[in-house]
Amino acid sequence: MSGKVRKPVTLVGFMGSGKTSVGRELARLLGLEQIDLDREIEAREGTTINEIFRTRGEPYFRQRESAALEDATARGNPAVICSGGGIVMDPRNAALIKERSVSVWLKAKPETVYARIREEGTRPVLNDGMSLEKITALMERRLPYYEAASRFAVDTDGKSVDQIAREIAEVLTGIA
Ligand code: S3P
Repeated sequence: MSGKVRKPVTLVGFMGSGKTSVGRELARLLGLEQIDLDREIEAREGTTINEIFRTRGEPYFRQRESAALEDATARGNPAVICSGGGIVMDPRNAALIKERSVSVWLKAKPETVYARIREEGTRPVLNDGMSLEKITALMERRLPYYEAASRFAVDTDGKSVDQIAREIAEVLTGIA
């Protein structure tokens, strides 16, 4: 399958939808580099996402996130880009993702997300009172943005990382 995808591939979707783990497997399958925007930001800032939110605030984080996306897509090199769950809320980011990459929306039910991230404590937008209700409400608000920023969607509920990555790779080799 390697060598067939000629553009960056961006994974979008809610926190806990599997962007990072699916992205790793997809990159392996396609023989591409994986770029995780949150990890890029942490490396550049020398600290964790939680700490960036705590000490600099969300607007600063969003600014760094847009810059990391710009850099990752600027040269159009094929890579699997794993984005953060809130990136699509800025229309400039959403436009850039659509223009410069093939974007895939990893869909997951709120229950799936809750089960995956409830114990983690690494999601500052949910840290003050993580609950199924809160995830459901935030996800509902964001759904149209994921839809608008993506070329196609994949349901992830009840599927393994391998299965999801293979499904995406198959669609991509047909279009990218
Ligand atoms: C965020 C999602 C996180 C990270 C930050 C904000 C969000 O990424 O970018 O905590 O607003 O949904 P993941 O989707 O990889 O957890």
